[in-house]
Amino acid sequence: MNRTLLITGGAGFIGSHLILRLFERYPDYRFVNIDKLTYASDESYLDPIRSSGRYTFAKVDLVNKADVTAVFEEHKPDGIIHLAAETHVDNSISGPEVFIYSNVVGTMNLLELARRTWAAGSANRFHHVSTDEVYGSAAPGSSFREDTPYSPNSPYSASKAASDHLVRAYHTTYGLNVVVTNCSNNFGPHQHDEKLIPTIVRNALQGKDIPIYGKGENVRDWLFVKDHCAALDLVFHKGTAGETYNVGGENEWQNLALAKKILGLLDEIHPSSASYLNQIRFVQDRPGHDLRYSVNCAKIQRELGWEGSAAHFDQALRETLSWYVRKYGGSR
Ligand SMILES: NC(=O)c1ccc[n+]([C@@H]2O[C@H](COP(=O)([O-])OP(=O)(O)OC[C@H]3O[C@@H](n4cnc5c(N)ncnc54)[C@H](O)[C@@H]3O)[C@@H](O)[C@H]2O)c1
Repeated sequence: MNRTLLITGGAGFIGSHLILRLFERYPDYRFVNIDKLTYASDESYLDPIRSSGRYTFAKVDLVNKADVTAVFEEHKPDGIIHLAAETHVDNSISGPEVFIYSNVVGTMNLLELARRTWAAGSANRFHHVSTDEVYGSAAPGSSFREDTPYSPNSPYSASKAASDHLVRAYHTTYGLNVVVTNCSNNFGPHQHDEKLIPTIVRNALQGKDIPIYGKGENVRDWLFVKDHCAALDLVFHKGTAGETYNVGGENEWQNLALAKKILGLLDEIHPSSASYLNQIRFVQDRPGHDLRYSVNCAKIQRELGWEGSAAHFDQALRETLSWYVRKYGGSR
């Protein structure tokens, strides 16, 4: 089947992996990547497909409706996977406004174009890629299910919650063929320097302090980015319209324990004169810091046969660390 997929945020961390995966797996598809190219993006990740004739890049801010409309009119996409967003929680605390424009208004502009361009009842699908942070903090012993009430605590998660609600409302109100995925923390190559794992590796290699918020007790569920992309592929193609699917790694780590694991692996992969573990420093906690995220992904496993990455966590982490060691100039 020939189809044209519009992917937003394709020059970012997850979007770049997703485009490369879909490009390989669906030789009949054409891809249009809309990305504003913020500080978090790097278009060079898509160099392998740039001159393929099946890939087009549009440097467009989703907030600018006229520009997004022009891309729609030129390429006539028959599916959208929407990843573009401002994503760094700390930045949302210091400057929340752009999160509302990009994540809420940007999503709204796309939804409007989809509903006005695609015929009512059309099979064309709008897939919104979202986060488990919309559910707030998980109580001990409990995990987020798809019907867990939303309780976002940061401007970032509030903006993603707002866009999730809009996407679902467009299904209920206008019958738009939508699916939503809410995923836990991703790790892997291509992530921007400011995120936890790249920061740990960079500071370790540069002999700097490795900052850990509070006492390092916050718990996150970690999923390899390529496994997340496999889930997105599955849900986009096989998910049920109007449904939400949680995606997680079933792989929970306290931040301090994860930092120690990473630094222990780095001591093996790229040894220094002293263990990198000595560089850990505790810093003042982030305001409103959710203590624990925990995702129940039984629905996507049961209904779509998806499997997470806990079984190959070590291997995926080694692949990730080696990539950042190369990026940050480790030569041994
Ligand atoms: N990284 C994670 O752990 C994680 C987990 C769950 C969900 N998500 C969601 O997945 C999506 C992708 O996350 P990521 O980690 O790849 O983010 P990222 O910050 O690496 O990339 C986001 C991309 O969106 C683009 N963008 C931002 N605002 C835009 C705008 N107004 N118009 C056009 N492009 C714009 C940026 O230029 C960037 O290339 C986001 O929607 C995020 O909420 C991320």
